[in-house]
Amino acid sequence: MPASAKPPTILVVDDDAEIRYSLNRVLSSRAWRVVEAASGEQGVALVKKGPPPDLVFLDVRMGGMSGLEALQHIRAASPRQLVILMTAFGTAQTAIEAMKFGAFDYVMKPFDPAKVLALADHALRAHAELRAAGDYKPTINADDYREGIVGSSPVMQEVFKIIGQVTASDVTVMITGESGTGKELVARSIWKHSHRAGKPFIAVNCAAIPDNLIESELFGHEKGSFTGATGQRLGKFELCDGGTIFLDEVGDMALATQTKILRVLQAGEIQRVGGTETIKVDVRILAATNKDLEVMVRTKTFREDLYYRLNVVRIKMPPLRERPEDIPSIVEFCLQNLVKQRKARVAKVAPEAMAVLARHNWPGNVRELENVIYRSAVITQGDTILPKDLPVEIREAAGVPGPAGSAPPFEPTGTARGGQPAAASAPPGATDSPVLAAATGPALTVEAALDFVFTQLGSGDAPLLPRIERELATRALQSAAGDATKAAKLLGLTKPALQKLLKQG
Ligand SMILES: Nc1ncnc2c1ncn2[C@@H]1O[C@H](COP(=O)(O)OP(=O)(O)OP(=O)(O)O)[C@@H](O)[C@H]1O
Ligand SMILES: [Mg+2]
Repeated sequence: MPASAKPPTILVVDDDAEIRYSLNRVLSSRAWRVVEAASGEQGVALVKKGPPPDLVFLDVRMGGMSGLEALQHIRAASPRQLVILMTAFGTAQTAIEAMKFGAFDYVMKPFDPAKVLALADHALRAHAELRAAGDYKPTINADDYREGIVGSSPVMQEVFKIIGQVTASDVTVMITGESGTGKELVARSIWKHSHRAGKPFIAVNCAAIPDNLIESELFGHEKGSFTGATGQRLGKFELCDGGTIFLDEVGDMALATQTKILRVLQAGEIQRVGGTETIKVDVRILAATNKDLEVMVRTKTFREDLYYRLNVVRIKMPPLRERPEDIPSIVEFCLQNLVKQRKARVAKVAPEAMAVLARHNWPGNVRELENVIYRSAVITQGDTILPKDLPVEIREAAGVPGPAGSAPPFEPTGTARGGQPAAASAPPGATDSPVLAAATGPALTVEAALDFVFTQLGSGDAPLLPRIERELATRALQSAAGDATKAAKLLGLTKPALQKLLKQG
């Protein structure tokens, strides 16, 4: 912007004249204008009086108003103001508080001039991005919110058309596509628009239920039909009478069960496990898989006749990388939902950050994008997600610098983010898990990640432990490409224990 020919202004707030002097010298070595304030009160007054500086360096321990107090006043008066806190005492509490009250970063005294300059550069870049983000305009309309599926790409428009075509009848639909592309969402949308909308929609994840339990789960059982069957139990098909059953991961269903599903499709009837009575059921079946069923039919691991019955209409969900034009609206949609659920405060993404997201390859598709937005929304300090807030793997793929990615110049900032003393070496439980590392930086430990989880999620209404366990189990299953045995091993659990975690929630 040509208007920014004016040099950026940096306000230095410290009650120690020597520190102000040396910081002023370091910062003035660049074409930056430095203004000094000798107390928290004076610093706050200068910001309020305006024009606000582009960046504030603020000391934590000062006589009179403390740095943390000043930070809160500054952020209340000017929510987009970027503030870097400075302190000689690296305690976990100050670091956590600093980030909680919206400091951009945190630096330890005595400073290394090169680090201070790099940090200021980084913050000023973020400041410029924040200003640019003011122009971002929402594009989603209320109908999209009601529907829960967004996407204006031609391929998604085709998907919406097919959904519209299959809602009037009870035709069986097979939804295929990579993980996280929205298969379940489409199944729910078909149900919502069909005449069965007032009746149940039941999703059965065939991969998560052990083979010996799935038949009882689907068709129910009679008392005493197997060890543990202490009473009669109705299965999903009976419970779902009049409604829609979604057979998710149908490629993982055992051949014996496949035969019984075929019977439901052909005759509309079931038998409970251990029973002799034939029960009529009126259920529409939708199915999904990310396996190649044609190959499974050839290798005789999937029944050919069932394949044709399920596959009357096929909806192939396109991977996100084939529809990058949908990314901005999905991002916006996720953010709005997070704000509505009070899981995030921010509702905007800077254009530069959006450009990075739009260029990414998204192997985990919409689910991965949602997860990235969530993580970024939680750690961002301003009201807008900037490129530096994106997880490190996304930034690295796009070549974007960021505090976590540039560990050497910003070592002290690790203190603030992880809540760990900078000097402490990694504890024995340190992990190199990509999931955890991606959340806040490469040197993250399990302890630091959990600090983060507690400060951000601990106050939610649902109990935390089952949520974490279920999330870990889901992630393990994803990283083992759906192989439950491998996933269980990864977590040090037995397969039934893993399956129990997956079902809780
Ligand atoms: N077009 C879309 N618009 C908005 N949200 C979407 C869209 N597609 C997917 N999502 C969201 O992405 C997440 C993954 O979607 P869904 O569970 O339907 O995918 P899936 O294909 O069933 O994945 P998997 O194969 O891993 O089971 C969900 O939270 C869903 O709400
Ligand atoms: Mg699914």
